[in-house]
Amino acid sequence: MKIAFFDAKPYDKASFDKYGAEKGIKFKYYETKLNEDTVDLAKGYDGVCVFVNDTVNKTVIDRLIELDIKILALRCAGFNNVDTKHACGKIHVVRVPAYSPYAVAEHTIALLLTSIRRIHKAYIRSRDFNFSLSNLTGFDLHGKTVGVIGTGRIGRVFIDICKGFGMKVLAYDKFPAQGVEDGDKVKYASLEELFSESDIISLHCPLTEDTYHIIDENALEKCKKGVVILNTSRGALVDAEALLAGIKSRKVGAACLDVYEEESDLFFEDNSGHILEDDVLARLISMPNVIVTSHQAFLTEEALENIAETTVRNIIDIAEKGESENEVCFH
Ligand code: NAI
Repeated sequence: MKIAFFDAKPYDKASFDKYGAEKGIKFKYYETKLNEDTVDLAKGYDGVCVFVNDTVNKTVIDRLIELDIKILALRCAGFNNVDTKHACGKIHVVRVPAYSPYAVAEHTIALLLTSIRRIHKAYIRSRDFNFSLSNLTGFDLHGKTVGVIGTGRIGRVFIDICKGFGMKVLAYDKFPAQGVEDGDKVKYASLEELFSESDIISLHCPLTEDTYHIIDENALEKCKKGVVILNTSRGALVDAEALLAGIKSRKVGAACLDVYEEESDLFFEDNSGHILEDDVLARLISMPNVIVTSHQAFLTEEALENIAETTVRNIIDIAEKGESENEVCFH
């Protein structure tokens, strides 16, 4: 089988070549993203493999079908970049629902600790032999309340880590799960309660119509002064302009973002020689209490292996059985 692989990065190739070779799948790696202009690169292939910032809208889906593409394999968990309503029933869409919840949860904690213990500042200082401690005062996580929105795979690992730090967890999920609550340590709460009582808020829910800008001006108004916002899920969960306003007004104490609403033309690429057109992102990055990583939370050796293995299995399942347990829509 031949699969056109869009938005390919050097770190993708080793694991996809390894698992592809085992199952007779040849990947053609395109650095470009899939969109209306590039979709014809899929001509002659059996399927396409895409990531978080490829555009899979109606036009792209219709053209893939004209090109007789049978499978759209997402090598990620989220599928908000695919018009699934249009795709369902026309093309098999598969994803990797879980590859390493630990990778994302651990990155979230790494960002939090970096931020509140001012490691990003200390690192730069000590490289310049500046060993002053002025303005590096942090705060203990122990005893703080963390609000966790979304108690799925990643949210639950994140909650376990927070419990290890001796934090109190207030959780919110549209579909609360059994086994998450743990006495006084972890409790489900309303969003209102979570906003008003949390010292730190971490987002681990998918991007849907319900969750779009779940952190907006209104939500931030309800939060404690000094709240720390962590977003390693999807950029549009946070209204970036409202967040910037919250930081300027000192309502938000710190923000750690691995994702950004308008990330698709910027993240994953070296833009260091370019003028950044996005004033909101530029201003956020200029803040001493904002840390931005470029959608890096998933990037561990374990996750890359799992992503490639599951994607190859999904493609083979569709080819051989016409179905996969990881289909986004069911025919
Ligand atoms: P999951 O599907 O296991 O859990 C998502 C949870 O969100 C579920 O418990 C679900 O009930 C809940 N949820 C759904 N709608 C909600 C709503 N309206 N309000 C509150 N909760 C709601 O997903 P998983 O694996 O934990 O991933 C979470 C998110 O993390 C993904 O949707 C994806 O956007 C993001 N992600 C980010 C990565 C990165 O590299 N930064 C890598 C992988 C995932």
